[in-house]
Amino acid sequence: MASMMWGAPGETDEPKAITAYCEPWSLRAGETVVLRASSHRPGPAEVTVERISCGDPTRWGPGWSVTPVPVPGLDPTVELAHQPLVPGSYGTVDLAGLSAESVVELSFSLYLTRPREAQAVLTLVGAPASLVVEAEAGGRLTARVGDGPALALRPTPLENRRWYDVTVTWDLAAGTLTGAATTEPSRSPGRDLLEANPAAPATGPALAGRQSWSRLVLAGGPAADDPTTDRGGLDGRIARPRLGLDGTDLTWDLGRGMDGPSMVDTSPAGRHGVLHQLPTRAVTGPTWDGSTQRWTDDPSMWDAVHFHTDDLYDAGWSPTLSVTLPTDLPSGIYAFHLMNAQGDEDRVPFFVRPATGAPTADVALLMSSATYLAYANHRMLFEGADFIQSRQRLRPEHDYVRRHPEVGRSMYEKHGDGSGMMFSSRLRPVLNLRPGADGWNFTPDTDINAWLKHAGRQLGTGHDVISDEDVHHEGLAALAPYRVIVTCSHPEYWSTAMLDALEAWQRAGGRLMYLGGNGFYWRVAFSDGWPGAMELRRAEDGVRNWQTGNGESYHAWGGEYGGMWRRLERAPNEICGVGFAAQGFEGATWYTINDESRAGRAAWVWDGVHDDEGRIGTSGLGGGAAGQELDRYDPRLGSPRHAVVLASAAGTFGPDMVRTKEEFEGSIIYPTPDPYVRSDIVFYETPNGGAVFSVGSISWFGALARNGYDNDVAQLSLNVLTRFLDPEPFPLPDR
Ligand SMILES: [Fe+2]
Repeated sequence: MASMMWGAPGETDEPKAITAYCEPWSLRAGETVVLRASSHRPGPAEVTVERISCGDPTRWGPGWSVTPVPVPGLDPTVELAHQPLVPGSYGTVDLAGLSAESVVELSFSLYLTRPREAQAVLTLVGAPASLVVEAEAGGRLTARVGDGPALALRPTPLENRRWYDVTVTWDLAAGTLTGAATTEPSRSPGRDLLEANPAAPATGPALAGRQSWSRLVLAGGPAADDPTTDRGGLDGRIARPRLGLDGTDLTWDLGRGMDGPSMVDTSPAGRHGVLHQLPTRAVTGPTWDGSTQRWTDDPSMWDAVHFHTDDLYDAGWSPTLSVTLPTDLPSGIYAFHLMNAQGDEDRVPFFVRPATGAPTADVALLMSSATYLAYANHRMLFEGADFIQSRQRLRPEHDYVRRHPEVGRSMYEKHGDGSGMMFSSRLRPVLNLRPGADGWNFTPDTDINAWLKHAGRQLGTGHDVISDEDVHHEGLAALAPYRVIVTCSHPEYWSTAMLDALEAWQRAGGRLMYLGGNGFYWRVAFSDGWPGAMELRRAEDGVRNWQTGNGESYHAWGGEYGGMWRRLERAPNEICGVGFAAQGFEGATWYTINDESRAGRAAWVWDGVHDDEGRIGTSGLGGGAAGQELDRYDPRLGSPRHAVVLASAAGTFGPDMVRTKEEFEGSIIYPTPDPYVRSDIVFYETPNGGAVFSVGSISWFGALARNGYDNDVAQLSLNVLTRFLDPEPFPLPDR
């Protein structure tokens, strides 16, 4: 995002005191939304529901427009407590009723990803004592019973990212603990010279006598402050946990049930376990040998779970309020506004569709809720990325994310152990999903919402708001009521179900206005087993802040191959006529009208458009309508041959605007000028009287509102919206 946009107003060194999240993000009028809030300054706060027409406070938008709306039954005052965030994934198995008096045999495979740090590997919680396996700071693996002495399971520290087979036997009759951590040969004779020598089992004293069990905790143990609850404490993988209690054998196959939290016990006992806070599945286990990349070919080679101390799926906060929306509440972008007497506040957006069975508008704005999830609590503004510089001065929302890493990371970061963030959840505060908080995505999208509202006033029509998650869950039915769908500024993340729905809607005659850039780029997945979360595997290539690990490019949820849609035979060009070409965040520029388009079947788009000597979009956020992330018309990637290129921005970008890396075969010096660094505005017809209009630039939103919407970019957009709303089918173009 252009660095000139966000900064000065509202800066503070104080952390935001109030944070909150609501569930769901998208609902219908007449349905119930639940708000969960926390305050670092506990006490009463006022709560209102607001309608957000425009949440962009900068001069690039039409002006902040947020108005309270009455909601019957909403208690205007709530009491805010401080509710903690406790990250860290782990697994538990309920062992209540089980006991042993002769022997406890525990085995599992372990792969540490931060072996220099103290880790809680596994705890068998019982009475009178628990069995604890830990990695000490420095990488030494130990086992102990209760407060007894720590038994080193291997004389040397565990290597980083190497599998070890761990066995621990607790002889309850003899009062001894015996154990070892051994490793199989790798493919490196050198690495194996010292490491692969078998370690002799070690033995030490332990408590004797009958034990009863409460639970097994993988990757964690009881919380220090509350022994009845558990905490995650491991960065690394566990595979093939097995527990023998006298005659009872329990074995968990972690290669089963990849799309949910269950750990399947394959023994007759059926003591299935549960994973908490969304650790990563469909990661390679001890036996993966590179012979296949797809876990569904042989799940036994992916029978590991990768736990992270910074995983956070569900904050689990107590509800602050629950309210059923009036059935006649107009579709739109809304927010809960919380404010206390000290002036601390938070706004928590949600998206409202018309009530079930209620009339719909002819046009809907498709909120990019999948993109919002991918960017949730991103740290790029203060940590930087290879395509954006970090900055010192932050708005309160980003400052909060910096101060409170426990809110969890976005899919633009890595975990603390260096592995990519493949999951993101909305069951936690998402600080950048706030009006005015961030120059990417949500706030710019409210500028498009405001333009649609303005255009609707001119046309005597209104618009609805729907969300990606609606399209994913309902498919074509979510889109079918609408003649026109308008996208947001950066609809980057699409599930297969979403793309299928959009394609089907286009075939049925839908008319798509794609008013953004770098859309339809990454495949994502959702699972009913982890509602509210999204999975992403940044496979193969693309502009990205991490890449998938070896053998880990297939989604756990559904087993699809991940990555860019252009590598999955569904390039964005096929759906909207243009596809990602370049990005650069230093400034934006103008488009030059393709003179040929002033005549012919798309000439109507230029009616009343006052260009500047053949240029449009010569001002706006960053200096023009073409900027940030650009898409190119390219028949090689599936752009329809009959598309009319209306205007192009090319040759006017600074050196920061560079082509997307998946188009290069090797290490490169970016060519300048690069004819493929381009944004093209296209129009073309689709089946059953449908059509597409695409601008291929994130910066378009920032050029709409200039001069009270009296400008070339707004007029062009209005012409298209007007014609797209007209039911008259677009005639077939000449072949
Ligand atoms: Fe993006």
